[in-house]
Amino acid sequence: MKNKKKCVLAYSGGLDTSAITIWLAQRGYEIHAVLVDVGQQEDLPVLAEKALRLGAKTAVIRDAKPEMCTTVIPYAIGLGATYEGNYRLGTALARPFIAAEQVRLAKALGGATLVHGATGKGNDQIRFEFAYRSLAPDYPVLAPWKCWELTGRKDMIEYLHAAGVEDEYALSKDFSLDENLWHLSVEGSELEDPEAFVDVSEVLRSVSGRFTAGPAADTAPQLVRVTFEGGFPVALDGRSTPLPEILARLNQYYRTADWAWDLVIENRFTGIKSRGLYINPAAKLLSTAVDALARCRLNKPTYDGYCELGRQYGTMLYRGEYFSDQRVMLEAAASAVLRHLSGEVTVHLSPRPYAARIDAPGAIFRKALSTFEKSDFSHQDAGGFIQLAWLSQVGQQFVEKPDGGIVETGWKTGSDLRVDQPLPAGGLVPAAV
Ligand code: ARG
Repeated sequence: MKNKKKCVLAYSGGLDTSAITIWLAQRGYEIHAVLVDVGQQEDLPVLAEKALRLGAKTAVIRDAKPEMCTTVIPYAIGLGATYEGNYRLGTALARPFIAAEQVRLAKALGGATLVHGATGKGNDQIRFEFAYRSLAPDYPVLAPWKCWELTGRKDMIEYLHAAGVEDEYALSKDFSLDENLWHLSVEGSELEDPEAFVDVSEVLRSVSGRFTAGPAADTAPQLVRVTFEGGFPVALDGRSTPLPEILARLNQYYRTADWAWDLVIENRFTGIKSRGLYINPAAKLLSTAVDALARCRLNKPTYDGYCELGRQYGTMLYRGEYFSDQRVMLEAAASAVLRHLSGEVTVHLSPRPYAARIDAPGAIFRKALSTFEKSDFSHQDAGGFIQLAWLSQVGQQFVEKPDGGIVETGWKTGSDLRVDQPLPAGGLVPAAV
């Protein structure tokens, strides 16, 4: 490919990509920095200036929020997608869109090397490089962390000092932060060691400078009514609200709430385990609401499939497989079920989010059946139900030991089995069995 020395760097303004800018400049690259707005609360024009000061030839800002909010995020919300049940995927949602902006710019430049600042230990390198391979399979990729001589944060700070860049990182705490419209992740420092005692409130205090000023959590409303259409949130408290605003509002209001975070031990795609703190109130609130809707509206097998779909969609995103056939397939399946999830859920936020009221048109929740009060239900019918359901369990044998406790003694066989016993007619349980 021609233009070998042109490169497009996903520049975040942080320590790693700043050191990388200098490193690339020293190696003769013509650097085009792209700062992708994925909802991080940062002054991107100021960071673009910084990229230019560090040696980039151009620095452009691209807004990926609208695209994220019309593609991946609605599905992540509708499916309540998680990775391993408790990581709500913030970083994984944004990376493919950052990579896509790099590729767009590289193509506009007539070709360029694609550069990212992720290390060889994490998932982000995979998310960037999978996206590059899907979208621009022929473009060279450069991940300085995999070939440079620097070994860690201290090295990078010294490297920047040596290049005459003033010391703006030395004072910041050793946490690695990643923020977007969905979450703020905190990794590193004492979180790295599961044997280190973590006081989450202290960690939150030390990263609170990253929070946008908003009302204190205790003055924010404790009831939020969310309207869903086809699995996607469309209104808050009855007012139609665009998705980016829904996320921004909920994240800003409840960022400091006691329930806003998850402390997660996760299995990275690379096989490395890590511990991270994820602050994602909007995701928690919305997933509580949509799950309640799904439980009221879907029958049991469909609800099970829906949960499995959320797990698969989450795992697919976590592994950086956004631009893939499997994503398209999972979204097609998701659309088939999400179309049923319309309605309104009132979420109570104290002490933690719960669905206090669910209005789901078409819900198959039948009060007349679930009630403890008198209803048309025939309790006698349940006798036949148990008789048949038990057939799949016939044969097991448990006995009570004289000294207490109930133990399994094996399986009945042959003539011991009572499967040939006639079933009671009409679903009635015989009086003395
Ligand atoms: N462990 C999370 C993930 O893989 C968060 C990664 C955050 N990235 C960062 N550079 N701090 O999605």
